[in-house]
Amino acid sequence: MGLFDKLQNITTARQKLAERGVTSNVVMEKVLSSTEAIINGRRMILAGTNNYMGLTFDPECIAAASQAAQKLGTGTTGSRMANGTYSGHIQLEQELADFYGCSYGVVFSTGYIANLGMLSALTGPGDVLMIDADSHASIYDGCRMSGAEIIRFRHNNSGDLEKRLKRLDDRTPNTLIVVEGIYSMLGDRAPLADIAKIKETYGAYLLVDEAHSLGVLGKQGRGLSEAAGVESNVDFIVGTFSKSLGAIGGFCVSNHSELELVRFASRPFMFTASSSPSVIASTRATLNIIRSRPELRRKLWDNAQNLYQQLQALGYQLGPEPSPVVAVRVPNIDQAVALWKGLLESGVYVNLVTPPATPDGGCLLRCSVSAGHSAEQIEQISQAFASLREATQLTETV
Ligand SMILES: Cc1ncc(COP(=O)(O)O)c(C=O)c1O
Repeated sequence: MGLFDKLQNITTARQKLAERGVTSNVVMEKVLSSTEAIINGRRMILAGTNNYMGLTFDPECIAAASQAAQKLGTGTTGSRMANGTYSGHIQLEQELADFYGCSYGVVFSTGYIANLGMLSALTGPGDVLMIDADSHASIYDGCRMSGAEIIRFRHNNSGDLEKRLKRLDDRTPNTLIVVEGIYSMLGDRAPLADIAKIKETYGAYLLVDEAHSLGVLGKQGRGLSEAAGVESNVDFIVGTFSKSLGAIGGFCVSNHSELELVRFASRPFMFTASSSPSVIASTRATLNIIRSRPELRRKLWDNAQNLYQQLQALGYQLGPEPSPVVAVRVPNIDQAVALWKGLLESGVYVNLVTPPATPDGGCLLRCSVSAGHSAEQIEQISQAFASLREATQLTETV
């Protein structure tokens, strides 16, 4: 037994892909816009990013980022608790809290760190984290870091959640339920109205990770908590700047004043460098656009509905509901790789997702739609899928 033995299954998985001609991560040689890039020397439509609002090339956001770099430098070279809190960080925290109608807001350096930082600060030995089985890796890692007891309930199954909460008896006040607004792999939403009701009944706490739903759901774009009308029942909302907000970073907002203590109790908040001034400035600009341009959300949903309906009509097996994440389910790796390569040859980039990253052991071609896509681009994406439909013969049921 040696140090590297545990890496063997990764080598085996890589070999499986290499035998099918997939040797390394895709490299974006040039990025032309929020929806196009040059990959392997070819112009591609990007249909696999999390750029839901399509704002990464917005002139206002780029100007804000470059002005901040000119005025404040390229990085803060320090953590939030030392020299890394600039007035921009505080202003963004205030703006996020205002956006959600909350009293408190904290900015973290990434969305991953926000989950690590929140779960590990809020819970510890003696507490319970009750999480959806399909939770993102950052939620699982935050659970491990916390030292709390981890109980998983079946994906999007509020009955299973309730059954497990009931068994906790007097431990429910020490329980934090964690769910996501939109799940990143299949694009389905949590049954949040039911979950919020259950959490009230049992006196537990509820944290919703709106990573994929911020900007996407709700009249004002605040996410599933807004869309489901349960914001007042949600204790903590976590989110990321790396999707609709087009940058990198994470946050938590809440009406619990204890959120402020995270600044002194959360190792992932305290022991990493803070976001650079350009990131904070562009995020402030995109947040403002999300608030002021609801037409982007309408365009996003038109694109999402179109792609979902067109791929469904072609007979592809998709995630359970229309969403900006349009997941094409493929039963095995050979078919998945063939389809993925065929799409690249047709000038369309989507994400190839293989086990163990998929929820049910199958493979996924995870497409994602942006407000930045034109109707023609959506048509080209679905044409590319149409041209490959026969060749891939996805006859098995996933
Ligand atoms: C649900 C969820 N939470 C958190 C994250 C982490 O966000 P970030 O990539 O901004 O660190 C992701 C990233 O994909 C995610 O899907």
